[in-house]
Amino acid sequence: MDIRNKIIIFIGIFLFTACYYDKKDLVYPQVLVATCDTSNITYAVTVTNILNTSCNNCHGAASANLIGGGIFLHTYAAVKPYVTNGKLINSILQNGQASPMPKNMAKLDQCTINKLVLWVNKGALNN
Ligand code: HEC
Repeated sequence: MDIRNKIIIFIGIFLFTACYYDKKDLVYPQVLVATCDTSNITYAVTVTNILNTSCNNCHGAASANLIGGGIFLHTYAAVKPYVTNGKLINSILQNGQASPMPKNMAKLDQCTINKLVLWVNKGALNN
């Protein structure tokens, strides 16, 4: 191959590869860090919403004796003993210290867990 053909091939490869570029967002996808609002956590709104959404189909007034193992979580007075004995938080942390909850379902998302932990750490007030 003579030198001119080599130069032409070299230039051809250069032109071809020079047009290649990476899209930054495709190569390094932005991981969206969801923000977790843990301000204004109350029993009346935050905790009851979480329990009603994820727990009280089994631990509600009508269901607890049928499918909730006789454990009621439908009122503050009913929830409090499970705060005191640590089972409420241990069950949702699924750390082996209590039966993992919600039973036979995916673990609660981290933000929801954080909210319940925070409520307990601030004294589990009936607020
Ligand atoms: C599908 C029904 C079901 C759902 C949903 C459910 N539980 Fe339970 N839960 C049970 C049953 C049944 C038991 C009795 C123990 C067992 O069978 O594991 C129980 C036991 C518990 C206990 C006592 C655990 C122990 O080791 O003594 C706690 C605390 C508890 N659940 C909290 C929750 C919380 C909090 C949620 C929601 C995040 C939840 N459960 C969702 C059915 C459920």
